[in-house]
Amino acid sequence: MKPPNILVPQHPHWPKLSDEERSALKACITDKLKAENAVLVAHYYTDPDLQALAEESGGCVADSLEMARFGAAQEADTLVVCGVRFMGETSKILSPEKRVIMPDLGATCSLDEGCPADRFSAFCDAHPQHTVVTYANTSAEVKARSDWVVTSGIALPIVEHLTEQGEKVLWAPDRHLGRYVQRVTGAEMVLWPSSCVVHEEFKAVALKRIRRLHPQAAVLVHPESPENVIAQADVIGSTTALIKAVAEMDNKEFIVATDGGIFYKMQQTAPGKILIEAPTAGEGATCVSCAHCPWMGMNALQNLEQALDSGGNEIVLDPAIRERAVIPIRRMLDFAARREIEMKDRGNA
Ligand code: 13P
Ligand code: SF4
Repeated sequence: MKPPNILVPQHPHWPKLSDEERSALKACITDKLKAENAVLVAHYYTDPDLQALAEESGGCVADSLEMARFGAAQEADTLVVCGVRFMGETSKILSPEKRVIMPDLGATCSLDEGCPADRFSAFCDAHPQHTVVTYANTSAEVKARSDWVVTSGIALPIVEHLTEQGEKVLWAPDRHLGRYVQRVTGAEMVLWPSSCVVHEEFKAVALKRIRRLHPQAAVLVHPESPENVIAQADVIGSTTALIKAVAEMDNKEFIVATDGGIFYKMQQTAPGKILIEAPTAGEGATCVSCAHCPWMGMNALQNLEQALDSGGNEIVLDPAIRERAVIPIRRMLDFAARREIEMKDRGNA
């Protein structure tokens, strides 16, 4: 199975705002959010201005799972999702009664684009004995064809659980994360071969060199990275897990292999720590992303204000797809909730 070729956009260059322009735009957006009874939900990879505004205006900055959970728990009429399209869709799947808008509906993800629903469905048909587990970075149509949806934060325990039940797993779309999950859990898995254009760019040889220059630094790696980069990690985890590691570990320095947008939250959580970008240069480097997702970069204060103004850029889903897609997402959320209770009980015992 060969994934389709993906056209990766240039990283958008937004006109630089003066401090006055930035403050005026933020104030205007805050007023519009209030007038629309809307809540702003932003991902850790988006521009720091958006992350700050989400927090200041009573919204949230989070990983993909928490964004959807937070949105669903709000009384708001409208959710404004700053991130990529699958995040907007997941919010809509969990909150069908709310209007979900985004600054740019063209902000997709190489994993989502690399896993078109028709080809994915044929792949599932070819493996009828496998339980279909898909990563959240997929379209609503792909989720609708899945038994389970997982995020990087919950993939390991869910696949472990399925393996205990004697199930074989069809995994899509990220092959690096899939291989990592397979290695840790020992599960029998077939993998869809897509990858993230941002994490795929981290280079193992150059990372080794940087580690020699910073021998005290802890290496934090998102599991969408290549195997030889994961192999050098002190911590492998979701965006939330990596932020937690910076706050909780005693190290002063950290080499971080994920999108640089996360530095805003890491610095806010642990201001004294030194953060070093893992290298994307070196042999085989193309720098199509340079540790910053071009689709996440399509979110800015300017088009956020325009989206609120026009009321456009709304996520609209086929109700039949939504009804099917919500089942594997709920399965994941219920599993996560049960697991949290079990872990708390174990901690109290
Ligand atoms: P999280 O689920 O950790 O937020 O990651 C989403 C993502 O797109 C990683 O590249
Ligand atoms: Fe998709 Fe990678 Fe961008 Fe995350 S960083 S949204 S996985 S392309």
